[in-house]
Amino acid sequence: MSLIETRGLQKVFRQAVKDPGLAGAVKHLFTQRYKDKYAVEGIDLRIEEGETVAYVGPNGAGKSTTIKMLSGVLVPSGGEVLVNGLVPYKQRMENAQVIGAVFGQRTQLWWDIPVRESLSLLRDIYQVPADTFKRNMDIFTELLGMEAFLHLSARKLSLGQRMRADLAAALLHDPKIVYLDEPTIGLDVAVKHRIRDFIKEMNRSKGTTMMLTTHDLGDIEDLCERLVIIDQGQIIYDGKLQEVKDTFARERTIHTQLSIPIPGAEELFRDLPDVSVERPGIAGNDSRTKGATGAVCDQLTLSIRFDRFSCTASEIVKRLMSHGEVVDFRIDEPGIEQIIRRVYDGQLDSAALSAAGKGSA
Ligand SMILES: Nc1ncnc2c1ncn2[C@@H]1O[C@H](COP(=O)(O)OP(=O)(O)O)[C@@H](O)[C@H]1O
Ligand SMILES: [Mg+2]
Repeated sequence: MSLIETRGLQKVFRQAVKDPGLAGAVKHLFTQRYKDKYAVEGIDLRIEEGETVAYVGPNGAGKSTTIKMLSGVLVPSGGEVLVNGLVPYKQRMENAQVIGAVFGQRTQLWWDIPVRESLSLLRDIYQVPADTFKRNMDIFTELLGMEAFLHLSARKLSLGQRMRADLAAALLHDPKIVYLDEPTIGLDVAVKHRIRDFIKEMNRSKGTTMMLTTHDLGDIEDLCERLVIIDQGQIIYDGKLQEVKDTFARERTIHTQLSIPIPGAEELFRDLPDVSVERPGIAGNDSRTKGATGAVCDQLTLSIRFDRFSCTASEIVKRLMSHGEVVDFRIDEPGIEQIIRRVYDGQLDSAALSAAGKGSA
């Protein structure tokens, strides 16, 4: 049995249908029309111990609703859910011992008491053994840099400090599974990295299973081996992150720096399909193109885009070298960000996606 298992998991919200304005509100009083909104519509998911899973999708896709059902906050409308062999919404107390949850939008700390005291209260609630508590407090304080604000009440914390304190609170009792719903939302880069490092370290050293929803595609790339994409309450992709990249991120761009301009560089690649030449400074509305010296400079920068299945980077560089000197070059591959955007935009059809995901999940 998998650590997390859902079958046909569903959540329906009843939404009032109101005409706009006061007249609509009055009419609603008498007629009370409702429509069913499927927030989650038949999710089958298996997550094994120690996995790091990114659960992503556009706004309103049903991510938070899924996490709430997995963590026992919401009762499903249909289907089954088992976490560590427990039904989360029924066996709430036992379930709470096994999981930790961080919801980016709200805190589980007490607003008016020092963070240190909040954590002590949670120790009592979860009955964390004294030595575990001390060990975790030491590790978390160090890794999350909490020393500076342990004495402050949650009310006084910055968002970044609050998120760090919430992470510590969620992991204090050594849960097997941690659900993170938008853990880095609104944070600056430094805090984001600190939080990512912490999550990675907990997964590595304690084998904690991590499931996170995020809008930050850097989080995904940095933290997760597996990607589950959900749209309108349904899973449209489930597979290894690397596989999505291998399958859908075919294009590469070589950015080259030349010692002398190569006029008509496009001609060099005429016979190769799917190769295009861009001159970064000139194609964009870069202000550098305005000055005379800038224009010369741009002649020395070429970006060549190609399909890595049609030709190789070395072939491209070789052709350039035969007409001039390549001083420097760098190869870019598309990030998971671009790929996911294409999925959202419907540019990648879900049949192709699920074919790529088969067997890996
Ligand atoms: N308590 C609720 N009552 C009614 N509709 C809800 C409620 N919670 C969420 N929804 C609706 O369910 C859908 C999924 O929401 P949610 O799970 O929060 O999406 P996500 O986290 O992916 O942005 C949305 O259309 C949202 O408006
Ligand atoms: Mg959400």
